[in-house]
Amino acid sequence: MTLQRILVTGGAGFIGSGFVRYLLETYPDVHVVNFDKLTYAGNFDNVKDVDPARHTFIQGDVADFDAVRQAMEGCDAVVNFAAETHVDRSIMGAAEFIDTDVKGVHNIVEAARVLETERVLLVSTDEVYGSIAEGQFRETDPVGPRNPYSASKAGGELMGMAFHHTFGVPVIITRGSNTYGPYQYPEKVMPLFITNALEDEPLPLYGDGKNVRDWLYVEDHCSGVDCALRKGAPGEVYNIAGGNERENIELTHKILELTGKPESLIKPVTDRPGHDRRYALNADKLKALGWRPAMDWEEGVARTVEWYTDNRWWWEKIKSGEFKEYYKRQYESR
Ligand code: NAD
Ligand code: TYD
Repeated sequence: MTLQRILVTGGAGFIGSGFVRYLLETYPDVHVVNFDKLTYAGNFDNVKDVDPARHTFIQGDVADFDAVRQAMEGCDAVVNFAAETHVDRSIMGAAEFIDTDVKGVHNIVEAARVLETERVLLVSTDEVYGSIAEGQFRETDPVGPRNPYSASKAGGELMGMAFHHTFGVPVIITRGSNTYGPYQYPEKVMPLFITNALEDEPLPLYGDGKNVRDWLYVEDHCSGVDCALRKGAPGEVYNIAGGNERENIELTHKILELTGKPESLIKPVTDRPGHDRRYALNADKLKALGWRPAMDWEEGVARTVEWYTDNRWWWEKIKSGEFKEYYKRQYESR
């Protein structure tokens, strides 16, 4: 299967832009059509350095069927990263999550059905499984989302799989674990804590700080998605896990150590409602197709801290805009 023209939806976001760069660097013949609404989380800065001759950018909404169909025309595959992605925002209001993460996915699989697109990869999350006290989730485990974000992602996944079973649309799903690295919007814990530390602002740690996430470096997430896209089978789900389980408090200490800031910046705050205690994934199914995460945890965090230290131009303008209002609403009363 040759995939020469690939539609990447949400390609101006954190992982999507990493995937655009990954494709262009790995496959000299690939042309990327990048379709992104440029919401608060989308940022053209994330792809401004890619070769414009091999990258067509379209500003559009996945909730708009005609726009999606038009962008997909002539593409061999579509890889969907477009989503509302932040759990805390989904707790404040979930309507946009349903528009993008459920209706948007329906539009993508419906356009792929009409256009007979060769591959449809839906990027999803380990959060659809819910929380696990011990052991690791496998792809055969049932989904049990517990917050509005993960519920909307599960809704999109189920619609995608229904289109595979009903119409034969070649849908593949990946479920990645918590991802970190350069270009991540600073509402998520890793870039929020790094940039707050760099600004000598408190790090708002939820609850007892002992919730566990399994950290995956952004390039490893991208290579995992690409492996599933090329070697995976339609109708199948593949977990992508970093294999780096850490309690939030450990992560916080690491960030303070690397930024050279004092522990006194840690500010325990009221827990997130419905906060999933632990996520852990088994990625043997994708590993059987040849994928391996390449980034070591210590090195990955050090690189990430270094990137935010060196690229204040990227995040300072974000944090001085709409973000300020969000931060106030989210943290002021905690
Ligand atoms: P992000 O929030 O950084 O980027 C999302 C992108 O989607 C933005 O560029 C935004 O403009 C775009 N977008 C939002 N709504 C849109 C719409 N209606 N139409 C078109 N574009 C729209 O997100 P991310 O962290 O890069 O996540 C990308 C994907 O990976 C998501 O599907 C997310 O569920 C999944 N995922 C993320 C993580 C993580 O830790 N960040 C882990 C597992 C899975
Ligand atoms: P987050 O980056 O929002 O990702 P997710 O909820 O999708 O896993 O949060 C990661 C972990 O960090 C999660 O256990 C919640 C915690 N957290 C804090 O302690 N403080 C914060 O300000 C944020 C945003 C998250």
